[in-house]
Parts: sequence; C-alpha cells; structure tokens
Amino acid sequence: MILVTGGAGFIGSHTCVALAAARRPFLVLDNFDNSRPDVLARVGRINGAEVPFVEGDIRDGALVRRVLKQHGITAVVHFAALKAVGESMAQPLRYYDNNVAGTVALLGAMKECGVRQMVFSSSATVYGDPDTVPVKEDFPFRPANVYGHTKAMVEQMLADLCAAEPDWRVARLRYFNPVGAHESGLIGEDPQGVPNNLMPYVAQVAVGQRAELSVFGNDYPTPDGTGVRDYIHVMDLAEGHVAALDHLDRQPGLLTVNLGTGRPASVLDLVNAFGRACGKPIPYKVVPRRAGDVAEYWADPALARQLLGWQTRRDLDAMCADAWRWQSGRAALAA
Ligand code: NAD
Ligand code: WQD
Repeated sequence: MILVTGGAGFIGSHTCVALAAARRPFLVLDNFDNSRPDVLARVGRINGAEVPFVEGDIRDGALVRRVLKQHGITAVVHFAALKAVGESMAQPLRYYDNNVAGTVALLGAMKECGVRQMVFSSSATVYGDPDTVPVKEDFPFRPANVYGHTKAMVEQMLADLCAAEPDWRVARLRYFNPVGAHESGLIGEDPQGVPNNLMPYVAQVAVGQRAELSVFGNDYPTPDGTGVRDYIHVMDLAEGHVAALDHLDRQPGLLTVNLGTGRPASVLDLVNAFGRACGKPIPYKVVPRRAGDVAEYWADPALARQLLGWQTRRDLDAMCADAWRWQSGRAALAA
C-alpha cells in the first residue's frame, strides 16, 4: 500500500488517478490546508472506487506512525508542501517548518516503521537561473527564493540519507511547469484567490472571471520576447510517479530526474494555444517584468526516458484543452 501525502492537491489528485490505473493500492494523507475533501470524491468517480484518506498533518509523528503501521505502507509519494513563492519570502519559518521539518518528521516516522521508499516532489526551481538550456540533472543548485531553498534542503537531506543508509529507495523528481487537468474535467488546478501562475490565470480570463491577462514583460532575450518555460501536462507528470515507483521497486538507492517535455513554450505560445482550445482570443496587455522571473528554462528529459522508460505524450494544445474543460465545467461541478 502506498501513502500519498498531499494527495488531495493539484498534482497529488491526478497521481491518485494514475496509481489506480496502474492497479497500485494507495491511501491519501492530507491536512486540507490547500485543498478540499470533495476533490477525493471526484477522484473516486474517475477511478470507479472510493479514495481512502486520513485527514492529518505530516508533522504529526504519532499519527503518521499509526497510519504507516495500520495500513501496511511500503512506499510514500510525498507531495505535501506549501508552494507559493511570494508567500515563502514573507513567511519563511512557516515554509521551513512545513516543507523541511515536515519532511524530517515524515522520514523519521518511516524509518521507525521500516518504510524506506519515497518519491519526493522537487522542482526545477532548485536550478534557479541556469547558465544554459536545456537543463540537465547535474546542473548546480541555485535556488533564488525561500520555497526553492526548502526543496534544495530536502533534496540534500535525501541524498545524505541514501549515502548513510544504502537500503533506502528514494526518487527526487524535479518538475518543470505542471499544467492542465484530467481529461474528464472532474479534477484540475484550483488556486485560492488570484492565481500566481500563468495557466490558471489564463483559464480564469477565458471564462470571464478576470478581464485580461498581464504578460510580465516582452523584452526578454527569447524568440517573441516573453518568458519561456517547459509546461508539462499534469497527467504525464502523474504517470512519471508510477514509473519512478516501478524503478525504485527494481533498484535501491537515489534516483534524480527532471520531469519535463523538453519542448520550450513562450507566454504567447500558451496564450495562443488556449485561444484555440476555447475558441476565442485571450485578451492580454504587456506589463513590466515580474521580479525574480527567469527569461527561459526547459528540461532535458533524456535521463528520465532512459532510466524510467517514461516520456510525455500530451502537447500544449492538449494541456490547454483539458484546462479549459476543467475551468469551464467548474460552476456545474460546484452546484
Ligand atoms: P497543492 O497545494 O495543490 O497540493 C499540496 C497538498 O498538500 C494540498 O492538498 C495540501 O493541503 C497538502 N499539505 C500541505 N502541507 C501539508 C502538511 N503539513 N500535512 C499534510 N498535508 C499537507 O500543490 P501541488 O501543485 O499539487 O504540488 C504538489 C507538490 O509538488 C508540492 O511539494 C510542490 O512543492 C511540488 N511542485 C509543484 C509545482 C507546481 O507548479 N504546482 C512545481 C514543482 C513542484
Ligand atoms: C510562467 C511564465 C511569467 C503569470 C512557478 C514557480 C516554480 C514552480 C512552477 C513550484 C513566466 C509569465 C505568469 C501571469 C505572466 N512551482 N506570467 N503573467 O514562474 O515559471 O514557476 O511555478 O515548484 O517554483 O516559480 O511559473 O506560471 O508563474 O509563470 O506573464 O499572470 O508566465 O512571467 O514567464 P514560473 P508561472
């Protein structure tokens, strides 16, 4: 049985669908700090089976030990974290406590209970502003904000643990920019308040919830002057976790891979693709650059393909079509 921490969140909920499709039994642990239990009911509709979950916090050692023992957990897929970059700069202790101390507590409970397999949600943010693109796994850590530091610290901790105790099986998965939704339209990204990220903002403009997108700068040294990223469909990403679990079942030690498409896309590429998906242009205006933004980065996904036999299958049009289906159907789901 696999424990999915943060399984009610954006990436965790889609991974619950991928785990069910792979016939991997799982249990969700989430404190619903940034999600709601009804997400799991909708995951259950997709899977055709109720999603078992425990409401609780990864920092609650006694609870985690009980869950690990009672449910015969053999591996943990660890999504639970706070992820807002701006908020992390304003509330550093909250981020270090939840993301770093939370993972220390979780690993301690796992060790006590003899569970030594973890798939960890890291981020391309650990690379900061890379010297060259595409980004490879051996590029140096250069996190530029508190959130990024929490990811780099946990990555270091996991490497140290695997060096000290070679029977651990740990995957550090560095996600690029996860977007999109499950093709059913039943689950997707559900940010609270004004979205920080491009895709959910564009989706809210498309349904008329916001008037227009602000494009943060068109004077970058990129083909059309707007920022370039590696957007990855959340279901491709979810399937990467199943591939990582399979790999760890075969081989102990530390696995570190980028999960991206290797295909760069600009802000305007995404805006145009979304316009095609929803059948109308997305209104936007160009505003000054956002502080801390990098001009461009995208993944070299070759190592993940080689080690995991995994590669992305869904393109930018599919990401936008699925995000649009989710966003435009939300009102009906809430009713
Ligand atoms: P999310 O906020 O949608 O999901 C995180 C889930 O964890 C939420 O359901 C939240 O309630 C839960 N949670 C948070 N702290 C917890 C705690 N202490 N105990 C129990 N549950 C807790 O975020 P997401 O986008 O699904 O991200 C999942 C993971 O992937 C995070 O670790 C994030 O840092 C990482 N990541 C996300 C992105 C992205 O752009 N979305 C990119 C790279 C890495
Ligand atoms: C993408 C592009 C913006 C919003 C962030 C985190 C990163 C990771 C993923 C977790 C950039 C532009 C955006 C808008 C815009 N999260 N943009 N108008 O910044 O690449 O990465 O999410 O690990 O750590 O930093 O993603 O979606 O915010 O921005 O023009 O309203 O869209 O300038 O070029 P980012 P994003």
